[in-house]
Amino acid sequence: MEQRDTGFELLVRYLHKARGLDLNQYKLNYLRRRIGVRMRARGCQDYNSYLQVLRLEPEEFSRLVNDLTINVTEFFRDEDVFEGLRREVIPTLIRERREMGMPSLRMWSAGCATGEEPYSLAILVHEALSREGGKEDWNVRILATDLDEAALARARRGRYGSVKLLEGMNPEDYFTRDGEDYLVREEISRMVKFMRHDIASRPPLRHFDLILCRNVLIYFEKGRQRKILEGFCDVLRRGGVLVLGKSEAILFGEGLPLVPYQRRLRIYRRT
Ligand SMILES: C[S@@+](CC[C@H](N)C(=O)[O-])C[C@H]1O[C@@H](n2cnc3c(N)ncnc32)[C@H](O)[C@@H]1O
Repeated sequence: MEQRDTGFELLVRYLHKARGLDLNQYKLNYLRRRIGVRMRARGCQDYNSYLQVLRLEPEEFSRLVNDLTINVTEFFRDEDVFEGLRREVIPTLIRERREMGMPSLRMWSAGCATGEEPYSLAILVHEALSREGGKEDWNVRILATDLDEAALARARRGRYGSVKLLEGMNPEDYFTRDGEDYLVREEISRMVKFMRHDIASRPPLRHFDLILCRNVLIYFEKGRQRKILEGFCDVLRRGGVLVLGKSEAILFGEGLPLVPYQRRLRIYRRT
């Protein structure tokens, strides 16, 4: 056991120092399980031999990152949450920004996987601004970040085999067809900028009107989850909105400068 632990620590240290992948904040059981999957796939009996494989074969590193970062997602995942954003949250943000004389929105999808989440958000903003008129005057920036380069590359392509929209939405308004595939239209994709970012590090920008972080924090230890949530609060403007996922809401701690906005949907506002 001692031996295994030392090997494990060496592996984690190597990944951090040599490859820039900081796994120290992840839950130990989760890490061991996921790394174990790759070790079995490569026929490695212990962490040391897996470390050798990682040193010798650059592709194994991408495979490990891929296994550590589970990219399951879809357009408008948890429809009721996106309906809440559609009916209440986004129209309110737009009204407030207009009243402030600042027709701009800055949003962040943290842990965006293959892009369906930030594109869903862009579709909602597009729909709301089209309804209100004056869309051309608005500056909308949706920052979409993830740790996984392969997922980001797919997100940037904006090509999907299937799409699911909310009631009353027309796929042709947001996608063009290319054979069986759906390509995100330029007027949607230009709102979204993808960037590699580790959620456990400092937030990449400030003054967000809305942050979505869903189905990501489960991988982290409690203390780190709390730090990440504090980081979100620091970079949300006053009145800004935080949208968490089902797995995130239960960790919601006392003492953060947030009040429930739509409690059932795990939507909160910065006080
Ligand atoms: C299950 S997906 C969630 C996607 C989307 N937010 C949703 O709810 O549909 C989790 C994503 O978190 C990303 N992730 C895991 N650890 C991360 C980290 N330290 N920094 C940024 N993203 C991370 C994974 O790469 C994966 O794409």
